Amino acid sequence: MIKIAVISDIHANKLALEAVLEDINKFNPDKIFCLGDLILAGYNPNYVVSKIIELKEKFKSNFEIIQGNTDKMVAYCTPELLEKTKSAFPCMGYSLEDDVKITNKEYIEFVKNLPEKKSVEINGLKLELVHGSPRNQSENIYPDLKNDEVEDMVKESNADLILCGHTHIPCGYTLNSGKTVINAGSVGRSMTKDKMPVYLQITVDDKGQFYSEHRIIKYDIEQVKRHILSRGFSHVEDLADMF
Ligand SMILES: [Fe+2]
Repeated sequence: MIKIAVISDIHANKLALEAVLEDINKFNPDKIFCLGDLILAGYNPNYVVSKIIELKEKFKSNFEIIQGNTDKMVAYCTPELLEKTKSAFPCMGYSLEDDVKITNKEYIEFVKNLPEKKSVEINGLKLELVHGSPRNQSENIYPDLKNDEVEDMVKESNADLILCGHTHIPCGYTLNSGKTVINAGSVGRSMTKDKMPVYLQITVDDKGQFYSEHRIIKYDIEQVKRHILSRGFSHVEDLADMF
């Protein structure tokens, strides 16, 4: 039996990551997979990236990580991207500006150098780790899609199990092609009804059969709102209201 904890979309939320890691410790996984979006729109990007690097060093080859679209936004931020984001989604644009300022340069380099996807094989089970979908880092695999739509999104993958994040809403699909697609949900900016952190536990047996379960973790969301408000940039209230 191999136990895997899958975390995604932490978004610089220290409190959420700590709460999820406490539960992951009890699960005692053999492997940890992180599906990107470590930073942007939270309150402590430096803590989150340093903690992820610490986990990577602890789990060594049993830790896999890929880049998310917001990691890329911070890593490749240009004045044009900033203006575009500020006019389309002001609180996100100002957060992007502030994240670029406050995130340590070595941590920005870390997220810049992450791969967009990764393939892993465990006991004959082929897994593909992506942020959005196998064909697009920013594509949304939502819970209300038709199976044929999801089939099309993952057609270029030859994996048995595709793990994704990005939408911040946990869900799963069993497709006619035999593929399974699971969206791990979000640790730090969960879009479920109660906005509580979500991660995924997977157990793979010796024959490559797997069992998976989403875990919903309770934490102090009001404290997160206060931390976000304390950043003080323009439109930060809108960002805090999203929690
Ligand atoms: Fe995200």
